[in-house]
Amino acid sequence: MKYFEETIIILGVFTISKAVVIYYSLEQETKTLAEMISDASNIEIKELVPIEPEDRRDCKTYFWKGKKYDLANNPKLEDLEISIDDYDLIFIGTPIWELTYSPPVKSFFNDYEVKNKKIAVFYTHEGEKGDFLEKFKDLIGENELVAYIDFYDPLNSNLESVEEEICKWADVVMKKELG
Ligand SMILES: Cc1cc2nc3c(=O)[nH]c(=O)nc-3n(C[C@H](O)[C@H](O)[C@H](O)COP(=O)(O)O)c2cc1C
Repeated sequence: MKYFEETIIILGVFTISKAVVIYYSLEQETKTLAEMISDASNIEIKELVPIEPEDRRDCKTYFWKGKKYDLANNPKLEDLEISIDDYDLIFIGTPIWELTYSPPVKSFFNDYEVKNKKIAVFYTHEGEKGDFLEKFKDLIGENELVAYIDFYDPLNSNLESVEEEICKWADVVMKKELG
């Protein structure tokens, strides 16, 4: 009995700071980076998975590089099955769509209570970033943007150096923000 009491007291004194990687990716680029961070830093990883809209009229048509996409503005997401309260630092990954963050990332901030978090964002694109960072800062509101990094078409780059760069970045962020 005494052993249990001591254990509970110890757990009560030390709260463990935790980090998680949350990302959306349509074509594997952002996903690849998300997995690199998660593997190297040994932290949990969660994918934002939009649920297909019941009514296609809720979508708008967008052309990128000659290909047609139906984009839902505020897509519903599958449940992430985590409690955001458990994390102090959130790595968010997104591709750039229409010169800004992808709609599932917007849904994440709308659907979940993301408050008093440190946010580190990584994003992939094909050279047209618009004013992504300004828009992203507006999206995260009172949460603190502690770091950001972007990659141009990483899967068609030298993947080893991409991995080295993003893992080093994530490591510095983790040490600085979580100690
Ligand atoms: C619907 C759509 C819109 C896009 N808009 C942009 C854009 O505005 N600027 C840009 O540089 N790339 C744009 N891209 C390219 C993606 O940002 C790029 O390919 C990204 O690395 C894909 O990441 P993913 O594989 O994780 O989905 C767009 C791609 C799609 C599918």
